[in-house]
Amino acid sequence: MPFPQNFLWGGATSAAQYEGAFDAGGRGKSHMDYIRYFTPAERAQGKNGHNVTPEMLEELLAHEDEINFPYRRGTDFYHRYREDIALFAEMGFKCFRMSISWSRLFPTGEETEPAADGVRFYHDVFRELHAHGIEPLVTMVHYEVPFALTQKYNGWESPKLIELFCRYTKFLIDEYADEVTYWLTFNEINMIWNRPYLGGGMLVDRSERDRLTCIHQALHHQFVASALTVAYAHEHAPQCKVGNMFARLQTYPMTCNPGDVLESLENDNLNLFYCDVMAKGAYPQRMRNYYRDHAVEIDWVPGYEEILRKGTVDFISFSYYFSAPVTCDPEKRERPELFTKKLRNPYLEYSEWGWSIDPTGLRVTLNVLWDRYGIPCFISENGIGVDEAPDADGRVRDPYRMSYLRAHIEAIAGAIDDGVDVMGYTPWGCIDLVSCGTVEMRKRYGFIYVDADDEGRGTYDRSRKDSFYWYQRVIATNGADLSDWEK
Ligand code: BG6
Repeated sequence: MPFPQNFLWGGATSAAQYEGAFDAGGRGKSHMDYIRYFTPAERAQGKNGHNVTPEMLEELLAHEDEINFPYRRGTDFYHRYREDIALFAEMGFKCFRMSISWSRLFPTGEETEPAADGVRFYHDVFRELHAHGIEPLVTMVHYEVPFALTQKYNGWESPKLIELFCRYTKFLIDEYADEVTYWLTFNEINMIWNRPYLGGGMLVDRSERDRLTCIHQALHHQFVASALTVAYAHEHAPQCKVGNMFARLQTYPMTCNPGDVLESLENDNLNLFYCDVMAKGAYPQRMRNYYRDHAVEIDWVPGYEEILRKGTVDFISFSYYFSAPVTCDPEKRERPELFTKKLRNPYLEYSEWGWSIDPTGLRVTLNVLWDRYGIPCFISENGIGVDEAPDADGRVRDPYRMSYLRAHIEAIAGAIDDGVDVMGYTPWGCIDLVSCGTVEMRKRYGFIYVDADDEGRGTYDRSRKDSFYWYQRVIATNGADLSDWEK
């Protein structure tokens, strides 16, 4: 296996889905704390906690104490980080991806000084990681906006967020750069397009702009804020490496009809546009055309062109879960870039949540990114969510997870062999946590099982799944031994 000796094997989490303790240590509420749970049956009827409208928010605020908000609980990293980090170390992690909760440090987002308890908490976590030889990879914002900023400014729609975010990220660099070398600015920056509340902490119905313009205005503010942060880190902590993070959607033409090929190319360019801005430092002409064709009028931040040029990232990081076929057939045409995945690829199998399983797509993607940007790549999320539970003997047997990850690791090895510079691999939800898309515990990704359900019942005790031992051996052999693990 061609993995370099310093390859960063590990796992990924986010504060909103994992940390819990939403009201401890003076933490402010975050916009994620208002994404509510709906049962699978309710979701099948079209109810979705992510589609927050002004009316729905009013309702949530009025009945806050009666509603199930799983993100507020996460799976309690806040109180159990020592135990969890010891388990990560036992697996041999070289790297642990986590995010800092903006509202734990700046409860309303507008304070000029951070909350001391929050500052201390993250120092404790980083110290614990280093004591176990684990390098932190820290996402500055993984779907999080202090809720007060959602209410006061409609989140990222306002340019005010640039100033407040930069105050927060400058603090992070100044305070933690000695402990954290690897940073990501925004998690899955492209998700703002299909989930504006999740990605931008804003309610499009509150805006005077049309939906598309509101989203791209907010995205513009995030690009500027990210570039200013990268430039600050480069100047004040040159040992740090700052990456972007986007949800990669590898698309394929449904057939060799040139129309399908063009459609796939256009969709791919929409997905890569975020990297174009963050890695090349400029909006591509195609996107300007898109704005022109869709009457998107952006209030450009003064001087943004130079800001973007000066704040390009050091590496590309991305989540990769599935690929999607694209067609130009007007009857079936859809926009996979917006993560509508109705078209099925007949060559692939699908998970129980309808996500295609396509390791080859990861190898293709790594090659595409490397050829287009020429900077190192980091797979900061990948994995399979499964509804699973311990057997009668208390053991979670998860061979499906081993085979999913094995195939993707082989694909990464293939890409490295192709010449792609891959820094590391942090499978998503290395310990069970609350799902992002469906806000449930039932969809589990972990090597470590957490005894908790959708309603927050359970002991929250941790136990090792079979894949825990499998991944331990993968890391110990630096990816050479991927065979199934059996007790
Ligand atoms: C990515 C996010 O979209 O995928 C994570 O960055 C998320 O926050 C992960 O949890 C898996 O998605 P889901 O919906 O299965 O939790």
